[in-house]
Amino acid sequence: MDTPGTMIGNVNLKGDYYAAAFCAPEIASKARAGQFVHVRIDDTRNDWILRRPFSICDTDPEKGTVTIVYKVVGKGTAALSGLRPGSICDIMGPLGSCFTPPPDATPVAVCGGYGAAATFMLTRGKKGVLLLGARSEADVILTDKYEKAGFDVRIATNDGSAGTRGFVTELVPRLLEERPQEKFFFCACGPHPMLMALARLLREIGQSGQLSIDHRMCCGVGSCFACVVKVNDPGSADGWRYARSCAEGPVFNLEDVYTGD
Ligand SMILES: Cc1cc2nc3c(=O)[nH]c(=O)nc-3n(C[C@H](O)[C@H](O)[C@H](O)COP(=O)(O)OP(=O)(O)OC[C@H]3O[C@@H](n4cnc5c(N)ncnc54)[C@H](O)[C@@H]3O)c2cc1C
Ligand code: FES
Repeated sequence: MDTPGTMIGNVNLKGDYYAAAFCAPEIASKARAGQFVHVRIDDTRNDWILRRPFSICDTDPEKGTVTIVYKVVGKGTAALSGLRPGSICDIMGPLGSCFTPPPDATPVAVCGGYGAAATFMLTRGKKGVLLLGARSEADVILTDKYEKAGFDVRIATNDGSAGTRGFVTELVPRLLEERPQEKFFFCACGPHPMLMALARLLREIGQSGQLSIDHRMCCGVGSCFACVVKVNDPGSADGWRYARSCAEGPVFNLEDVYTGD
């Protein structure tokens, strides 16, 4: 087996999206849906000292590999996209909390863009539903893999270039109308405004779930407080407190998600 951290593959999925696989046997044996790895890109160079967090999209415990799916948005992800198999990255993980849909509920992944990577391991449980939102078809990723895994895939794009035109939150009431007898559990990851809109909607209509709230991170293990997000805290004077999204999250229960300013 390769040295842990060795890149096994790094392929372009479409446009700015890539999938990278690494040798990481320990992480592969423990990872759960919603957890993330903290990657020091190219361990042999000094330019990328700060790690970058990525959701664990998939694992192969037998081969000892972990796959992430990432979008090139800046210097770190651009450098990652240029690495070739055999490169070594230092990978910490699995980190953070995970999605825990109850066994008697159908999991519904509600995702925006690369958020579809964070929920993919839910496909290992009960056959569920993927509601994927994107600006346009260019940001629609992983739908073929979800379909292959038996998930019912529904897409909404802002410009109507794939699926229905509109926001992914609009797909939720439609699903409930179509399958009124079913117990659902919503597992979401995506841009902050989408998550806040979804949290308000789910509370309004009395559905339960969990949301993965991504925040820029530094240490990734709860020591630096760079990643704090507000969570509800009925016991405090203001009704909220700061939680470290790397250690207490990134997956938070719906009732804890703070949707105020
Ligand atoms: C728990 C967690 C899981 C993540 N999972 C994935 C994933 O599966 N796939 C993926 O492509 N990305 C994921 N991200 C975001 C990813 O970490 C950032 O895109 C990456 O760190 C950017 O590095 P960079 O050096 O290329 O960009 P930088 O040069 O650091 O920044 C470029 C741009 O990206 C924005 N950005 C940086 N970090 C974040 C962030 N955390 N959230 C939103 N915007 C950010 C910056 O504000 C800036 O506009 C995740 C983030 C977190 C916290
Ligand atoms: S990134 Fe340091 S505490 Fe979360």
